[in-house]
Amino acid sequence: MTTAIIGIGNIGGAVARHLVAGGESVVLAATDQSHVEALASELGPLACAASVEDAIADGDAVFAVWLDTMRELIPQHARLLEGKVVVDPSNPIGFDQSGQPFRTLPEGQSASSVVAALLPAGAHYVKAFGTLGADALAAGAHREPRRAVLFYATDDDTAAATIERLVRAAGFDPLKAGGVADAGRIEVPGGDLYQQGLNGQLVDLDQARAMLGEVPA
Ligand SMILES: NC(=O)c1ccc[n+]([C@@H]2O[C@H](COP(=O)([O-])OP(=O)(O)OC[C@H]3O[C@@H](n4cnc5c(N)ncnc54)[C@H](OP(=O)(O)O)[C@@H]3O)[C@@H](O)[C@H]2O)c1
Repeated sequence: MTTAIIGIGNIGGAVARHLVAGGESVVLAATDQSHVEALASELGPLACAASVEDAIADGDAVFAVWLDTMRELIPQHARLLEGKVVVDPSNPIGFDQSGQPFRTLPEGQSASSVVAALLPAGAHYVKAFGTLGADALAAGAHREPRRAVLFYATDDDTAAATIERLVRAAGFDPLKAGGVADAGRIEVPGGDLYQQGLNGQLVDLDQARAMLGEVPA
C-alpha cells in the first residue's frame, strides 16, 4: 500500500518522514521536481519521486498543499481520485503582508466542506494531518510516555480505517472528532480542537476523549 504525498513542504515533508519511519511506502510529488527527488533519496527505498498525476495514480493521496492549490489540483485529477482515500490537512488561513493570519472563508464554512465538495462521488474523504502546527507535527511523533493525538474528521468508514493506520504508523494516536460537518473544530482559525484552540498543547488519548465528551476506555 502506497500513500501519495502531494506537496512536501512543512506538513507534507513531516508526514512523509514519519510514514517512512513507520514502515509505510510513499510516493512524493510537488512542483519542484529536484526537491522531490532529493527528499525521496534522503528517505530511502520506501520513498520515490513522481509527477502529481503518477503519484495519485499509485495510491491513496495526502494533499499537503494550500487550499487554493487543492481547488486547482482536485478537479484536474478527479478521475484518478475515484475509489481513493483523500487526506486533506488544509485550513482556511492566509497571511497578510505583515505575516498576520486571516480567515480565507466565511465564518462557519470549513475548508473541509470546500474540498469534500470538489471530490468525485467515489473518493473517500478525510480531514487529517493538519490539526497541529508543522513544528509540533514534526517533533511530536512517538511521544513518551503517552503518544499525542491527531484528530481526524470523516463520514466515510474506508477513509477512517486508512487514516487510523497512517496516523499510527506516523507515531501518533488517531481519534475521530466527528464527520465532515464537524471538521471546522479541527481547523484553524477558530477550531477548538486545533492545537491553537488547546493553548498550543498536544493531548493524549484520554485528554482528547474527555474533550469530545467520551468516557475514557
Ligand atoms: N504549516 C503549518 O503549520 C500547517 C498546519 C496545519 C495545516 N497546514 C495546512 O497544510 C497545507 C500545507 O501547508 P504547508 O505549510 O506544508 O505548505 P508549504 O510548506 O508551503 O508547502 C506547500 C507544498 O505544496 C506544493 N505545491 C504547491 N503548488 C503545487 C502544485 N500545483 N502541485 C503540486 N504541489 C504543489 C509545494 O511544492 P513546491 O515547493 O515544489 O512548489 C510545497 O511542497 C496547507 O493547506 C495548510 O493550511 C499547515
